[in-house]
Amino acid sequence: MKRKVKFLPDNISVTVEHGENLLTVAANAGVFIQAFCGGDGTCGKCRIKLEKGNDSSTQTASLNLDDHAEGYRLACQTNVISDLVVRIPEEVSARGKALKRKPKTTRSISARSLEVLIGQWDIDPPVEKRFIKLSPPTVEDNVSDMKRLMRKIRQDCHACKEPTYDHPELLKELPFTLREADWEVTVILLRGKRVEEPDRIIAVEPGDTTDKLYGLAVDIGTTTVCAVLLDLNNGKTIAEASAYNDQISCGEDVISRIVYSRRPGGIQELQTKVVHTINKIIETVCKKVIISPSDISYIMAAGNTTMSHMLFGLDSRFIREAPYTPTCSQFPLTRAAQLNVTAHPSVRLFLYPGIASYVGGDIVSGVHACRLHKQEKVCLFIDIGTNGEIVIGNRDWMICAACSAGPAFEGGGISYGMRVDRGAIENFHIHPETLDPMIVTIDHAKPRGICGSGLISIVAELLEAGVIDQRGKFNRNLDHPRVRKGPDGYEYVIVWAKGSLIGEDLTITEIDLDNLIRAKGAMYAGYMTLLETVGMTFNDLDRVILAGNFGAYIDLERAISIGLLPDLDREKFYYLGNGSLMGAQISLTDHKRFRERLEVIKLMTNIEMSENPRFMNHYMASLFLPHTDMTLFPTVLEKLPG
Ligand code: FES
Repeated sequence: MKRKVKFLPDNISVTVEHGENLLTVAANAGVFIQAFCGGDGTCGKCRIKLEKGNDSSTQTASLNLDDHAEGYRLACQTNVISDLVVRIPEEVSARGKALKRKPKTTRSISARSLEVLIGQWDIDPPVEKRFIKLSPPTVEDNVSDMKRLMRKIRQDCHACKEPTYDHPELLKELPFTLREADWEVTVILLRGKRVEEPDRIIAVEPGDTTDKLYGLAVDIGTTTVCAVLLDLNNGKTIAEASAYNDQISCGEDVISRIVYSRRPGGIQELQTKVVHTINKIIETVCKKVIISPSDISYIMAAGNTTMSHMLFGLDSRFIREAPYTPTCSQFPLTRAAQLNVTAHPSVRLFLYPGIASYVGGDIVSGVHACRLHKQEKVCLFIDIGTNGEIVIGNRDWMICAACSAGPAFEGGGISYGMRVDRGAIENFHIHPETLDPMIVTIDHAKPRGICGSGLISIVAELLEAGVIDQRGKFNRNLDHPRVRKGPDGYEYVIVWAKGSLIGEDLTITEIDLDNLIRAKGAMYAGYMTLLETVGMTFNDLDRVILAGNFGAYIDLERAISIGLLPDLDREKFYYLGNGSLMGAQISLTDHKRFRERLEVIKLMTNIEMSENPRFMNHYMASLFLPHTDMTLFPTVLEKLPG
């Protein structure tokens, strides 16, 4: 249910979900409220007055009963349960200083357009169950058991080609299954990879099991493995689960995992760990809906090239060494059990093909999900992580590249950086005159670090308030206790020690800013290089699609302000979510969409960036907030001081 919230005195109105936290609502709407503790309820700074509507706030020690009776609340302890009119008292908005400039707009990329992106699909999975009643053999009709089975399949489906089979274990069990089931069995058929290929019998089960047809879609991420269990009879998601990839104990990123794999037994250990993670997830989803892992009839997975190699137990060393060649791009359709994945011995695991060492199956799956290969107009597809992957193209052509953005967006290389987790600062505003912060943390817990979206907010806000300049250097002329010279040079104190969970001042330093500028510079240089390669500019783009979990939290305006995303019409931006998982999910449900992946692979051409002189030139030009060429960022130019 939607609720309206109006903030006074600036008259900013927003529509939000019922139950949303008021401090988060204000932060997302660009309404400044002093908030020092991230929403933990302890600093008592975020007092607002409810002028209309009901709330579900909790009375805290930071607010006395009289104030409560007069309508005062702590924004961070208030949830929106009706339409509200909220007044921000002067002392809370600006410590008595009126805001001289217009309120800012911040905007997350909404999922409004998900359907436009991924389109419709049918419930016609690549695996099918058919219940078959056979007539028992007689002296007159004593063809082999398999022949009898295939003959009946043909009789029941005239349009079908005679199916094949390739699994010797199937033959070992077949005579007994048929007889024990009194010749009434369910056949599991796998559709041919192409239209012209016949179906394949992968299992024969006693009795009628057609009501149990399940598939598992898996995204094998370097950090997290996510999966959804689908009922393939109706296409519905019936359970979801995710877990940290157990390989994390062998290294945080793909490079350190490849290094680890060179140890004796390393490849085997990494394979065991990723399989163990997948098995844990299978156990979790199956428990949720009370089915057995052996009820899953197909597993469709996607991961980056290194994860794909590691799942198959392949040596990934050449991925890391120039000229960066993977062992293979297409992985054979495999029986999941051969990889030790907990599944029925006949169940196949399909792994999305990759394009190059750093543009893997996860990107192909995302591009496939959002149907770039069907678009007439040119789109830019971006997946931001340690490696930023970029694809530009349409139904006629696609070029792709990976840019080594570094781990800044995942908290790496930032003094107080952390992954998306409880207590991470995810949203930040600064009052342009008092320079006081408004901090919102994940779960409204005491602040303990900064995650990627928080980092983007902090840098954009410091820039717009003139606390840092476009080189990412602090304004040396500012006389403010929060801007000071620390052990690593100039820094801004985001949270004082007494308010942080870690018991020390939580700061952002010039070194952190440098790392962020390099990360966003690599991404922007990647867009520019690919566009230049095909003789295009940003103006030729019809859509910019953000994939990956990070995209969910990105504030569009701020990401543009720092030059991470191009300064284009905001309506061109779309958010896909976990494209890797989504592609696998769609393929698992609709075999015609599944077959289209072949079109995607055919269209994609990888451009190597690592030693590309064009990329280096663009990279150098991008090491500025937002860019050295401000004609590329007209809306940001308007916002910058001076
Ligand atoms: Fe609400 Fe600190 S008490 S932000």
